[in-house]
Amino acid sequence: MTKRIVLLAGDGVGPEVVVAARKVLAAAAEKFALSLEYDDRLFGGAAIDATGNPFPAETKAACLKADAVFLGAVGGPKWDSGALRPEAGLLALRKALGVYANLRPVSVAAGMEHLSPLTPDRAKSVDLLIIRELTGGMYFGKRDEGDETARDECLYTRDEVTRVARIAFETARKRRGRVASIDKANVLATSRLWRAAVNALHAAEFRDVELSHVLVDAMAMRLIQQPAAFDVILTENLFGDILSDEASVLSGSIGLAPSASLGEGPRGLYEPIHGSAPDIAGQDKANPVGAILSAAMMLRYSLDAGAAADAIDKAVSIALGDARGTVDIGGPDSTASFAEAIAALV
Ligand code: NAD
Ligand code: IPM
Ligand code: MN
Repeated sequence: MTKRIVLLAGDGVGPEVVVAARKVLAAAAEKFALSLEYDDRLFGGAAIDATGNPFPAETKAACLKADAVFLGAVGGPKWDSGALRPEAGLLALRKALGVYANLRPVSVAAGMEHLSPLTPDRAKSVDLLIIRELTGGMYFGKRDEGDETARDECLYTRDEVTRVARIAFETARKRRGRVASIDKANVLATSRLWRAAVNALHAAEFRDVELSHVLVDAMAMRLIQQPAAFDVILTENLFGDILSDEASVLSGSIGLAPSASLGEGPRGLYEPIHGSAPDIAGQDKANPVGAILSAAMMLRYSLDAGAAADAIDKAVSIALGDARGTVDIGGPDSTASFAEAIAALV
């Protein structure tokens, strides 16, 4: 059956990493006889320039009909002072798709320990999955924006916490059976609700999973000091944004980190965790691995093509082990040549 993928290339390095991921998807489709159909749509700053809206109605309609949505990145200095921001389009997209659970895995590929700021022994032990709540919290609260005062509301409901916590517990059962829930319950009311909801679900249905609670400031430290102590890390939207950029550094580069955003049903949103990287955009320098591994997650979670996903994961490991790679990981490749090497390995 043909699967329909909406491609949102976006801004900066977004189009470069999307082309790279498509190359690898084409190789996987050929090898595994998958029928994939692509639909390129305007999104982000590029959509503001063309239509005045970062998330045009046609793009939204196409995304809602697709089997999966694949995004490069949005944003850049060009749109930083405008009334409409590309980033607002991304939040509206996540909300429209109902993708409340954002999965951000971080590990250190074999042979890549030298790229990590950790000692090689510690680097080897990193195998984390951050599950970031994606459609609530401060990103979606009311905002007041004045010249003298400004306010961003942080609101969570028990149901919002419970549904993402369920995904964390279920996922932990398929991994090493541990969930660390991150909050700031010593200060924030939303964090106390978060902790209570996580505890209640754990007690009712997931006693076999080992649950701990860690305050977010201490977590920022322990991520560097004791990454091996963690398996699934469950947290709210803003903390997850910050901790996942921090965690990506453990692997050597933010350019390596993929993500999958899921809700009810198989449709998902897939994007590398990095941004539009305006400092290297247009230079064929961006590391495409975050996007390529996001494509593998898309095959696995939304397109029922687990074997093709495994083949892409394996091709990336082999390419990295062969010292292929872009400059951010000390390699000799451009975005395009690195993607070609991975596609050939698939
Ligand atoms: P960024 O992730 O774009 O870049 C941070 C640093 O990491 C830069 O030095 C960049 O060169 C480097 N980097 C990022 N991706 C890389 C890659 N694939 N390969 C090699 N190096 C890479 O973050 P930023 O500079 O804070 O943000 C730039 C713009 O991107 C902003 O407008 C921001 O809002 C937006 N942003 C978008 C997304 C998204 O679309 N999902 C995510 C984060 C930031
Ligand atoms: C990310 C980005 C986005 C976020 C921005 C661009 C809205 O930083 O995907 O991590 O904060 O969620
Ligand atoms: Mn981020």
